[in-house]
Formats: sequence, C-alpha cells, structure tokens
Amino acid sequence: MKLLVTGGAGFIGGNFMHYILNKYPKDKVICLDALTYAGNMETLADVMDNPNFTFVKGDISDRDTVFQLFEKEKPDVVVNFAAESHVDRSIEDPGLFLHTNILGTGVLMDACRKYGIQRYHQVSTDEVYGDLPLDRPDLFFTEETPLHTSSPYSASKASADLLVLAYHRTFHLPISISHCSNNYGPYHFPEKLIPLMIANALNDKPLPVYGKGENIRDWLYVEDHCSAIDLIVRKGREGEIYNIGGHNERTNLQVVKAILKELGKPESLIRFVTDRPGHDRRYAIDPTKIHNELGWEPTTRFEDGIKLTVKWYLENRTWWEHIINGEYQNYYERMYGHR
Ligand code: NAD
Ligand code: TYD
Repeated sequence: MKLLVTGGAGFIGGNFMHYILNKYPKDKVICLDALTYAGNMETLADVMDNPNFTFVKGDISDRDTVFQLFEKEKPDVVVNFAAESHVDRSIEDPGLFLHTNILGTGVLMDACRKYGIQRYHQVSTDEVYGDLPLDRPDLFFTEETPLHTSSPYSASKASADLLVLAYHRTFHLPISISHCSNNYGPYHFPEKLIPLMIANALNDKPLPVYGKGENIRDWLYVEDHCSAIDLIVRKGREGEIYNIGGHNERTNLQVVKAILKELGKPESLIRFVTDRPGHDRRYAIDPTKIHNELGWEPTTRFEDGIKLTVKWYLENRTWWEHIINGEYQNYYERMYGHR
C-alpha cells in the first residue's frame, strides 16, 4: 500500500509514521508537511533513512503542490493529519485555521477525485461535538451527537468534516472520518497541557492551570489513536464516522498533579490563571462503534501512559528544549505573560 500522510512532522502524524513503517515493512509512506511552527524534522529523524519513506515539504492548501504530488506518486490512501491544532492559537488568529483546516482539506479531496483513491481518511476531533456538562458523567459523545462547536479550531474541524461528508455524498469519494479524544505521548508539542506542564515542572517554572482546573478531558495514549486509524483505513466502512477514546477521563488538576508526582516536584508550582474564553467543560467519547465493528480497544491505561510520557520527555530533553528555546518564548509571553 502507498500512503500519503499529511502533517506527519507533527505530534500524532509523526507517531503514525513510526507506527506504520514498523508494522508494515512493505508499505510506502510519503509525508507531506508544511513544517509550520508545529512541524519538526527531529520527530522524523528515525525514519528519514528508511527506503520506504519520502518527505515532501509543502502546504496542503497549495493546489499546484498537491496535484503535482498526486500526479507523481498516485497514492492508494490519504490520511490527513495536517491542521492548525491548538485552541488557544485559534482564539488569537482564527483565519489561519479556516485556511489550513477547511480549504486545505478541500484541495486534498479535489486531488483524490482527480487522480482516484482507495480511501481518504480525515483525522478529526471530538471537539466538533462541543462540550458536556460536568455534572452529567452519564453523557458521552456518540457518532450521532450533533456538531456544536465552541472555538474557531473546533469550528474549522467540523466544517472540514462536513466538506468530507459532502464529497462522499456528491462525488462518491471513498472517505472515512475519525473523532478522537485528547492524545498524549512522545513528540507532543509543549504548547499543549501535558508536555507544557512536564517542561515547566522540569524547569521549576509555574504550571498555569486555567480557571479552577475542573475541566475534564478524555486522554488517549497516542499509539492507541494510531492503531485505531490504521484499522479504520484498512477495515473500516467507507462513508463512516468512528469515535475513538479510551474512557480515561481526568480533570486538568488531576493530570497536572499526576505529572508533578511522577517528577517528584511540589504542588506549590501550580498557578491558577485566567480561564480560556469559551473553555469546553468536559469531553468524553463513547467508543462502542469502533469496538464492536473493528474490535479496537486501547492498550495503555492513563496511569501507565503518563509514566511512559514523562520518561520520554526526560530521555529526549534536546527534542523539546530546541522548541522552547526558540520562537516559542514569544508565544509563551503572549499567551501567559498577562494571565
Ligand atoms: P500538530 O499541531 O502537532 O501537527 C500538525 C502538523 O501539520 C505539523 O507537522 C504542521 O507542520 C502540519 N501542517 C500544518 N499546516 C499545514 C499545511 N497547511 N500543510 C501541510 N502541513 C501542515 O497536531 P496534532 O496534535 O498532531 O494533530 C494532528 C491532527 O489530529 C489534527 O488534524 C488534529 O485536529 C487532530 N486531533 C488532534 C488531537 C490531539 O489531542 N492532539 C485529538 C484529536 C484529533
Ligand atoms: P489542550 O492541551 O490545549 O487541549 P484542548 O484544549 O484541545 O483540550 O488543553 C487541555 C486542557 O488543559 C484544556 O481544558 C485547557 C487546559 N490547559 C490549562 O489549564 N493550561 C494550559 O496552559 C493549557 C495549554 C491547557
């Protein structure tokens, strides 16, 4: 199989690249990535010498680049991870999110229509469903939950989902979509909760917890997300949406405290700061469909995954220190300086 994976120099795409090249030694993988602030060639260092791997620097919303790549490579499958992915940045600059996440998705699907494809898979998020109340632990997002977005990020991802479904209905493009909960694990960019808290704690810097730290996320170890996408692409039904999550709900404060405990750092590092505007209260996935249809289940419990993640950040300091010593410092000042 020849896969075109977009956004493969980012967090989940990078993990997916390692996953596929390890599991399927005969598959060919082409990574198309614009190398934005979130793309990192150091994430791909281990696979660059693999003869089955090709890296192409390019923007998914650049029609010429995308069409030329399809003309040359004729991929069997496209897995689209490329996106602007951080809610806080989408509050700062929504336009970029609309451009990459919606128009970029449209360009990829136009190329699939023109050159033919076995499967186009859209990697989407549970954030398209909006949020759940904190006092209703019995409620979960299913594939039938209506779209109800809160942030420019989630609105752009939901728009892309609708476009993907429209290309299926109107042009019979063989698509699938996955809505996954919050991921964590190796190569996670330190603007997101877990890696940001690990990096700050290791540098004895304050840990900025939004509001009261009561918001709940449903955490999934990134390798479990990769195995789910792999199954959907190879065995999932065309035109279908699959929700992915492992019933690992934690409040943000519980997550931050677990990190501090693992690192042997004091809870006095925690600082409660001004809340995120429009902050989603709770995400929680019902993964019954993917479990029943494809036999998927997560293999890493949160207690183990957080240990593995902390260990990875301790053993790969140069990877994240290169990031936080660069332009990231301006971002950090903009985002947290006045909070
Ligand atoms: P990320 O920000 O770490 O990586 C995004 C990658 O896309 C980067 O390598 C970046 O360079 C690349 N990219 C950005 N714009 C591009 C463009 N115009 N053309 C080509 N490449 C471009 O993101 P992530 O956390 O790995 O998320 C990957 C996907 O998974 C996203 O679509 C996101 O919406 C979705 N998702 C993420 C989570 C999560 O917890 N992180 C959960 C569910 C779904
Ligand atoms: P994040 O990792 O940005 O993912 P998302 O907003 O897509 O779920 O944030 C996870 C949770 O952590 C979210 O409720 C916001 C909160 N948060 C903080 O409290 N402090 C921070 O510095 C960050 C980045 C996030």
